[in-house]
Amino acid sequence: MKFTESFLQELKMRNELADVAASYVSLKRRGRNLIGLCPFHGEKTPSFNIYTEDNHFYCFGCGAGGDVISFIMRIENLDYVEAVKYLAQRAGMDLPENSYDDSMSRLRKRIFEANREAAHFYYKSLYLPVGREGLDYFHCRMLSDRTIRHFGLGFADDDWTSLTAHLKSLGFSENELVAANLAVQRRSGNGVYDRFTNRVMFPIIDPRGNVIAFGGRIMTDQKPKYLNTADTPVFKKSENLFSLNNAKNSGSRTLLLCEGYMDVIAVNQAGFSNAVATLGTSLTTEQAMLMKRYADEVIICYDADEAGQKATSRAIPILRDAGLVIRVLTIPNGKDPDEFIRSKGADGPAAFAAVIERSGNDIDYRLQKLRGEFNLETSDGKVAYLEAASKIIASVVSPIERDVYASKLCKEFEIDKTAFNAQLQKLDKSRSREENRRQQQKIRAELSGTADRFDADRAKERRSSSAEEALVVYLVNNPDSCDYISSEISPGQFKNSLMRRYYEYFLERIKSGKDPLNNTTADFSREENNRVYKMLTKYAGVAQTKQTLGEYIKVIREESAKPKRGDVEKMSGDELNAYLEKIRNSKK
Ligand code: CTP
Ligand code: MN
Repeated sequence: MKFTESFLQELKMRNELADVAASYVSLKRRGRNLIGLCPFHGEKTPSFNIYTEDNHFYCFGCGAGGDVISFIMRIENLDYVEAVKYLAQRAGMDLPENSYDDSMSRLRKRIFEANREAAHFYYKSLYLPVGREGLDYFHCRMLSDRTIRHFGLGFADDDWTSLTAHLKSLGFSENELVAANLAVQRRSGNGVYDRFTNRVMFPIIDPRGNVIAFGGRIMTDQKPKYLNTADTPVFKKSENLFSLNNAKNSGSRTLLLCEGYMDVIAVNQAGFSNAVATLGTSLTTEQAMLMKRYADEVIICYDADEAGQKATSRAIPILRDAGLVIRVLTIPNGKDPDEFIRSKGADGPAAFAAVIERSGNDIDYRLQKLRGEFNLETSDGKVAYLEAASKIIASVVSPIERDVYASKLCKEFEIDKTAFNAQLQKLDKSRSREENRRQQQKIRAELSGTADRFDADRAKERRSSSAEEALVVYLVNNPDSCDYISSEISPGQFKNSLMRRYYEYFLERIKSGKDPLNNTTADFSREENNRVYKMLTKYAGVAQTKQTLGEYIKVIREESAKPKRGDVEKMSGDELNAYLEKIRNSKK
């Protein structure tokens, strides 16, 4: 059973988008709307808009749009039903009896349950004879039993069916286990076998406490060293972080970003519970945005080797764009945090704290790196270095922070500070020009829909697409004109297939007495839903009158009377004459 229209209406009324969003985004009023930095992509100039009149949002930067339910789905990483439940709870509403439980939500729930059972099973194995090897491995790596329990570490034994058999005995189906990526279908098609064997196991737990995935490390030098859960309905590795469940309760607004599982665990054991790691991919914007929700500052704790340094340089702009303050930790002797802490024995925690204390910010780090690229013995080298350095310093927004670096450099290289500041100002100007230009270009491309794969018909049929789009918006905003509009234009006259789908959908909703927009989040895919709100946004504040409606109708008719490209060549002489006659008449 679905949620009723009236339930959804009340839900939205009791959860005003502006209120809900305010706890995630800092919003400023602009006219009747609110504007802020988009929580769904990294940006420096705000393009995230909330239209309070009809409670929808749209971001001109990334094209995300929707109602309060879409907002919660995205920001809390929930599916539709979960988001509705979340909002009902927020507003103190009871969920209707017989609550809508679609098959995807049910599957997600089962995957969480299966993962939880699997984590228990792996943990218990560690302390059975069969898990001896795994326990020895962790002990050899200096993990205490307390740490092992705290992280719920485990062991997947050598038998290819032990987990599968256990979970089946608990009532999980093979389909569920395959969907969770705990089991893999046999090639013969007959039955399934365990995804992880002969590995020590690291459960990945999200901030709500759900076990969403696993990483498994082989105990020898074989490859692959780590095997991770593939993407499933509850897990996307590029959008999650290891140990964020611990870090979010650390009481600190600083996160330590490490390269891998063992680093995070070693750092935790040394007393720092605010460590997280990406899951075998380089840092993504989604992960940076996720960190930003729990922290203001990130200390990058990557390995001191070349790969770690490359990853550091790649991570810095991503973290900066997400609005995080960055520091970079340099571990002595090319070690990773885990090796470093271990090498110090009982002094590990204090030694690591000292390294954190010494970590400079990302500007220091970049200036330091840059030095290596120039020969500072020559005048040419100095000038080139200072020019490159001024670019880095110009990227700093705070004037005080800027002045600190500028002063330091000017002193060291004995140059005039006024000259250096003039150079910075020059860079500022060209950067803000460039940013403006890029922003405008983005908005223009967004609105005109050039090069749009999702709405491919638009580029081919511009005139009709615009009129069809305007007609759909008019219909949504003026549902009482539904009968008139549908008597004038049938869906078959639409040339743009996406617009035709919207037209049919909204006609159907309005004719059956429903609010056209009430259920778009459930009925459309995310991208389709984004587009609906993009269209509404485009026309927000544009007057649509009976007269403009007449124009849309006229254009749609004219365009639909035109034959498709290619049809004219295939026409017989008679057909061509009839066609020309028709055009002549319609032009009158
Ligand atoms: N990783 C992965 N798949 C691999 C190798 C690495 O997913 N085949 C990920 C893991 O999350 C791992 C991280 O990348 O924790 C860092 O890899 P690496 O530096 O090779 O491992 P360490 O964390 O140093 O692990 P260990 O100390 O156990 O060797
Ligand atoms: Mn390591």
